Parts: sequence; C-alpha cells; structure tokens
Amino acid sequence: MIQYVTLFALLLTFLLLLGVIFALQRVAKTRPDGGVVGENGSTLAGYSYLLMLLAVLAAVGTAWVLARDTPWAGHILEWLNIVVRLMHITFGIAWIGASFYFVFLENALNRTENVRDELAGNLWAVHGGGFYYLEKYKSAPKVIPKNLHWFKYEAYFTWLSGFSLLFVVYYFNASSMLIDPRVLDISPLAGVGLGVGSFVVAWLIYDGLSRTALVRSKWFMVVGFIVATAFAFFYAQVFSARAAYLHFGAMLGTLMVGNVYFTIIPAQKAMVKAATEGTPLDPQLGKNALARSLHNNYFTLPVLFVMVSNHFPSTFGHAYPWAILAAITLGTAGVKHWLNLREKHQTDSAVWVLPAAVALLLAVVFVTAPPAQSGSAAGGSACTQQVSISQVNMIVQKRCIQCHSKNPTDDVFKSPPNGVVYDTPEDIIRLKDKIMQRVVVTKTMPQNNKTQITQEERDLIGCWINQGALNK
Ligand code: HEC
Repeated sequence: MIQYVTLFALLLTFLLLLGVIFALQRVAKTRPDGGVVGENGSTLAGYSYLLMLLAVLAAVGTAWVLARDTPWAGHILEWLNIVVRLMHITFGIAWIGASFYFVFLENALNRTENVRDELAGNLWAVHGGGFYYLEKYKSAPKVIPKNLHWFKYEAYFTWLSGFSLLFVVYYFNASSMLIDPRVLDISPLAGVGLGVGSFVVAWLIYDGLSRTALVRSKWFMVVGFIVATAFAFFYAQVFSARAAYLHFGAMLGTLMVGNVYFTIIPAQKAMVKAATEGTPLDPQLGKNALARSLHNNYFTLPVLFVMVSNHFPSTFGHAYPWAILAAITLGTAGVKHWLNLREKHQTDSAVWVLPAAVALLLAVVFVTAPPAQSGSAAGGSACTQQVSISQVNMIVQKRCIQCHSKNPTDDVFKSPPNGVVYDTPEDIIRLKDKIMQRVVVTKTMPQNNKTQITQEERDLIGCWINQGALNK
C-alpha cells in the first residue's frame, strides 16, 4: 500500500515539474525581447524555480511522512541525500569555479600594455580550442549591453541545496547525527535552533565588521580569524564533533552567499542602474563588492575542507576538534593567499607564506597522530593480558551490530552504514584498521556512543589489535 502512495506522490511531483516547465517556456516565449539572460526577465523565472522547489519539497515531505516507520523512510532519505548532495556539489563547483576564475582574471589582467583609456585591463586566453579576449572596464561601459551575465544563481542554489542537505543529513535525524549527549544533552529542536540561529548571528557579526574601517586594514583578517575560531569552539561545545565541523563550513558558506545576495548583487544592480540612467556612479559600491568577493575567495578552501572533513575522523575525532579546525582553516586560507599573490606576481616579498601554511598543516598531521601504543595511551590501562578474538567479538556484538549488520536493529540506520558489517569474527579482522581508527584512537564510533561502549572495552579492542589482531 505505502509503496503505491509514495509512487503516487513522486508521480505528482513529476507532473507538477512538467507543468511548471511548460509554463516557464510560455513565459519565455511571450517576453518581448525573447531573452532570458537579462536581470528583469529572470525574476519571473526565479519565482517559477522557487515554486518548483517548493512543489518537490512538499511532495517528498508527504512521501516521507507517509512512509515513516517503514523501510521506505530510510530509502527515501538515502535518495534525497544522493540527489541533494549531487546538486550541492554541482552548484558549488560552478560557483567556486566562477569565483576562482574571476579572482584569477582580476589578478592576471594586463593593466599596462595597449590598454584603452576606459579600460582597467585586458587578458588573452586560450581554452577548449578557442582564443578569448576579455576586457575589464574601469567603471561601467557607456552602454549596458542587453545580454549581461550575472553569475548569481550558482551561489543561491549552492546555499539552498547545502541547507537542504543539512536537513537531510543532520536535522531529520538530529538525535543521532547532530546531538551527542556526551557533548551537550539538548533536544533535537534546540539543536536545530542553535544551528540555524548561529548562521544568522555569524552574518550579523561579519557584516557589521565589514562595514567598519577595519575592513580596509590587514587586521580584519586577524579579527575575522579569531571570530571564526570562536564559532568553531561554540559548535564543538554544543554538537557532535562531526556536526560541529559541518556547521562551521555551513556558517562560512552562509557568509559567502550573504555577500553575494546582500552586497555584491545589489552593488552591481546599482551600477547598472546608474550607467543606464547616466547618473554618477558611486565608486565605493564596486570597491565594497570587490572586498566581499575577495573575502569569499579566502573562505573557499576552508569550506571545501569542511565539506570533505566528514570522511576524516582523525580531524573531527581529536580531543580538541575546534582547534584542529581553526588550524586547518588558517592553513588552507594561507595557501589561497599565496596562490592569489602568485597570480599577481607578488610572491617575491612573500615567499614565506606557502611554507608557513604548509608547516601549519603538517603540524596538524603531527598533532592528530595516534599515540604510539594506542591501546594503553588512549586513557586506559596497559595491555597486561592477551586479548582473544572472542572477547572482541563479544564487545562488537554488544555495541556495533545494532547498526553494522546485514539486518540492523537500530531505529535510524536501517541498512549498514557505509556497507560495513561485523556479523562474523572474520569481518572484524578484515576491518581492524578502521576499527582502530574509529573506536580506539578517535573514539568516533559507536555513532555518538549510542550503544554506550566503555573505555575498558575500547582498550581491550586496542590491545587486541596491537597484539596482532589474531584469530584466536
Ligand atoms: C548507532 C549506529 C552505529 C553504531 C552502534 C556503530 N556505528 Fe559505526 N557507523 C555508523 C554510521 C552512521 C557510520 C557512517 C558515518 C561515519 O563514517 O561516521 C559508521 C561508520 C563506521 C566506520 C567507518 C566505515 C568506513 O568505511 O569508513 C567504522 C570503521 C565503524 N563505523 C565502526 C564501528 C564499530 C567498531 C562500532 C562498535 C564499536 C560501531 N561502528 C558502532 C553508525 C554506527
């Protein structure tokens, strides 16, 4: 029964989508100039896309509610995860790709040779079998061309899909993914509230700072880094370490899209308006937009690290996850800084930037390394006795197979996470290195210690692996 209801909901979504697409096409056809690139024309298209998104969300939401407490719920969530994640990655690549490209353009412009008076510079490029010649204007051109590309939906859709992904992965299953009672025992709703609220607060602080004179000084980066570290610290005090990392990235991503939405695009609109009406242009607008765009450029590598960090428990599994995050943020932003300097041919006086950033990142590798004898140094007693596979198997059967089994009994994970199962001792032996990493060194398994493994049990597993992970 439930399958048919879900199928029906999906079919409805599909039909709705088709309807909206047809409607969109009609709109595009009836527009007098026929184009869809211009700023005004895309407002309607924008609303239609929003409508589509809402329709999809409503249908999927209905399907999910209907399928709750059936195996279909996990299945729907998994596919939502796949679709939304793919969208997020794709939009993100388009956005960051454009961001890198334009900062590169700005840095690499030829500003001296054969540059017409009205131009700031130009650049020759060859790509994909063609030669390109670009010109940047000092301010606006005399006539604003009809077809003007804006590069903004990449940013908006990256954020929207990212925010959806945050819900799919962390907020729908807040009690097992977001909240770790060992960190702070709060209700799922409070957790979601803190997460979403923190993005608003971060934007207010950042935007406020960016409006002060500080933004023109080098100290802005220092203050910004301290504030970012404070956020990392805050997240690590309220969420599971993994979720804390992701929130840090989502927070920076929110600042980035806020810059696009609240500063860069409005500045560009004002510039277009002034140029069209022939009124004088406020040069500060362009400067503000450029500054924000540069901030975004520095945020990119730290954000990208956070997006992949969830695969690397040695980072978020450290005893001071926020400090590791802060160090990696500084290191990756440092690498970006050096890349920017290099594009401007200014690395001569700042050769030290790259080695300093790399040294910092190497220091993180060192700091996150497991102690020489993890089994004993991880907090418990030294291995005094030989640990047998049957002892380890007993622990695993008690603490792990709720999730890591062909037929999990956990209320959230209906299929074995990452396909990892420990149904037999052979499974355990085969996967011993990962068990060492997750259970003994970083202590990131069991997931938020849902099954309440004890330190003694972790030590026993550590000893068994250090003694050669023997099958006896
Ligand atoms: C409440 C459910 C749950 C329990 C209990 C649990 N895990 Fe996990 N485990 C997960 C989830 C979810 C993931 C995937 C996310 C991640 O990697 O953090 C995972 C991932 C892993 C991975 C990484 C697999 C990979 O391919 O990267 C290992 C190793 C692991 N668990 C080991 C264990 C061990 C050993 C135990 C018992 C001591 C255990 N888990 C208990 C939910 C659980």
